[in-house]
Amino acid sequence: MRPLPSETAKIRTDAGFARFVPWVRSRKFLENFREISMDSIFDEWRHTMKCNLAVISGDGIGPEIVAEAKKVLDAVGTVYGHEFSYTEVLMGGCSIDVHGVPLTDEAIETAKAADAVLMGSIGGNTSTSPWYKLPPDKRPEAGLLKLRKSLNLFANLRPAVLYEELKGACPLKEEIMKDGFDMMIMRELTGGLYFGERKTVEENGVLTAYDSLTYNEKEIRRIARRAFDIAMKRKKKVTSVDKANVLDSSRLWRKVVEEVAKDYPEVALEHMLVDSCAMQLVKNPCQFDVILTENMFGDILSDEASMVTGSLGMLSSASLNETKFGLYEPSGGSAPDIAGKGIANPIATILSAAMMLRYTFDLDKEADAVEAAVKKVLEKGYRTIDIMSEGKQQVGTKEMGDLIAAEIKN
Ligand code: IPM
Ligand code: MG
Repeated sequence: MRPLPSETAKIRTDAGFARFVPWVRSRKFLENFREISMDSIFDEWRHTMKCNLAVISGDGIGPEIVAEAKKVLDAVGTVYGHEFSYTEVLMGGCSIDVHGVPLTDEAIETAKAADAVLMGSIGGNTSTSPWYKLPPDKRPEAGLLKLRKSLNLFANLRPAVLYEELKGACPLKEEIMKDGFDMMIMRELTGGLYFGERKTVEENGVLTAYDSLTYNEKEIRRIARRAFDIAMKRKKKVTSVDKANVLDSSRLWRKVVEEVAKDYPEVALEHMLVDSCAMQLVKNPCQFDVILTENMFGDILSDEASMVTGSLGMLSSASLNETKFGLYEPSGGSAPDIAGKGIANPIATILSAAMMLRYTFDLDKEADAVEAAVKKVLEKGYRTIDIMSEGKQQVGTKEMGDLIAAEIKN
């Protein structure tokens, strides 16, 4: 029996029944009637789910790309009999405009009460937006950090994949990208420099700023376990990235990762210094499977990895806690320069929704269908402007969402 994804995801009997009746009437069912067990009948019925999502459309292109991800989820709902409900939550600049803060306590509670959070992007132009005149803890990004910490989203998964159809956009030479690459960056998300103590003080008449990088062994162990678990389902290789030649926190990181590795004898573990990793990502990206690293290194390396694929607008991400709960968002930012123009690429958000189906709801078949639909639309030659190349058909944000949704319904 397939496990239910969370306590709040309920069997939706009415939709389940609607799917069940035509199936029973179908020729396939009648032909195989003798072999069909009661279990498989209930299986078919039981897989129908009600999924309560908190939605953070956010700022910039956020609302446009999230609308397309919802469209695709609704198509999945229609085809597979699930029901997605959406509760909009304000975070970032839009929350500052309404509430004066980037994230309210009520918003955190709404997110906590949902099965998962689907997010677009937050923030504006840092040089021109009034949001950046506010003190640091009142700016849009502070809302995101607060949400990550409040929901204990310590495991950030950022896949960087070179799509066959988009090889032309990859800035690397043909001999370097070879047969493409497919890596998963596992970034620790609730510790390190982002959440250490910080202050700016005047010392002997000189302004001095402090940021502290702290990790305890428990924080390292839980993210390392996640990385090894994921490696077991992939190519069974973990590259743990640190700066152990300089930092104490990295030396502890290395020690704990080695302890965890003992429980995964099938997984090959290597250590790499972060500067070397930055270089290897452009020199030989094919060598990587799972890259495991701390918060700040992961922030930097994941941007680099996404650029290497040539298509930031294609990259999804998931931030998970100890349970099935997760926050799903595209890796790219809010792109205020193109907001409202209808040209942003919604694919990263749509693929983030696919990660949500897979990791929070255990709906692998549905997640596969979304990913296949994206590939199909690319194969057919449709492109948003950021991934456009000669001879292809340029489409806007909405059209791209329509095409992918239609492919799922096909
Ligand atoms: C990211 C972003 C955030 C981060 C910012 C917006 C705070 O760059 O998700 O990578 O640094 O974590
Ligand atoms: Mg970043």
